[in-house]
Amino acid sequence: MKKQTLLSGIAPSGRLTLGNYLGAIRNWVARQDQYKCFFPLVDLHAVTVRQDPTTFADRCRDFVALYLACGVNPQTSVVFAQSHVAEHCELAWILQCYTQVGELNRMTQYKDKSRRNKGDMNAGLFSYPVLMAADIVLYKADLVPVGEDQRQHLELTRDVAGRFNGLFGDVFPIPEAYIPDSGARVMSLQDPTKKMSKSDTVAANVIALLDDPTDVARKIKRCVTDSGNEIVVREDKPGVSNLLNILAAVTETTTAALENEYVGQGYGRLKSDVADAVIALLEPIQARFSDLRSDELALDAMLAAGALEAGKTARRTVQEVHGALGFIPKSSRVGPRA
Ligand code: TRP
Repeated sequence: MKKQTLLSGIAPSGRLTLGNYLGAIRNWVARQDQYKCFFPLVDLHAVTVRQDPTTFADRCRDFVALYLACGVNPQTSVVFAQSHVAEHCELAWILQCYTQVGELNRMTQYKDKSRRNKGDMNAGLFSYPVLMAADIVLYKADLVPVGEDQRQHLELTRDVAGRFNGLFGDVFPIPEAYIPDSGARVMSLQDPTKKMSKSDTVAANVIALLDDPTDVARKIKRCVTDSGNEIVVREDKPGVSNLLNILAAVTETTTAALENEYVGQGYGRLKSDVADAVIALLEPIQARFSDLRSDELALDAMLAAGALEAGKTARRTVQEVHGALGFIPKSSRVGPRA
């Protein structure tokens, strides 16, 4: 039986966090043998907000090296830069012609971003979900692991793909979202009602995958907890719930089991256990990262191989789409200009 295809991406802005690992990258790694996987580094998405060109490539390489350090296997999964495969933009254009302005206007992430980016409300922020749809259908992905915040973009992708199929026949599979349950959601350390965000500029809110152990320990020790002293997952205890969720995810147990274990214990003990567990998780990742990141030529060559492979599938899909739309097929015979 042919393997199904899985695709997911993270925009290279900010720094990858413990939340990205527990909520996303770890799930990619767990599924990469079962599915044919594509992991584009979605750099074209990142330029919807201003990036510093003198550091952008290095940040992108950091992201890719971290994917590999976390266990993504470039021998079996296709890891590449979105900007290296021009078909993403080509297909995004065509899909824009099958997307209604009204649909994009309803995207809550766009509404939030336009509120926050008053000074630079560029058209890319608006059409961003169509580029994401193109990323997905270009490889005919069946399964798309994303965070809860991307559910609406996935719905749009399904609508646009379904609409296209309705007009032109079954060109695209309709992708399923795979959204990890809320337990896998890591929240900000200082405001545990908000998601831990890789673009958060307040370092104390975030555990970055490359934070050194002393920073990790200090941030966890100082994170916000709640009044009272019970160690339980409960709505009125977002700080303690977050610590329990992190510990359960890192040590692969349940929060219920941890609640039992911590009866009668204090917050101090919980925090030091969380810190130890997170540090033990990050240490081998950081060691592999330094190895991988120190060989930039090898990293770039891996991305080139990924782009070559992704490009083959991407070209095939674009040709199929061009055919469906009735474009003149591009002849493989070049003759004299008439
Ligand atoms: N928009 C996604 C995010 O912000 C990133 C993304 C871009 C993506 N293209 C994708 C995710 C394709 C999954 C599939 O998280």
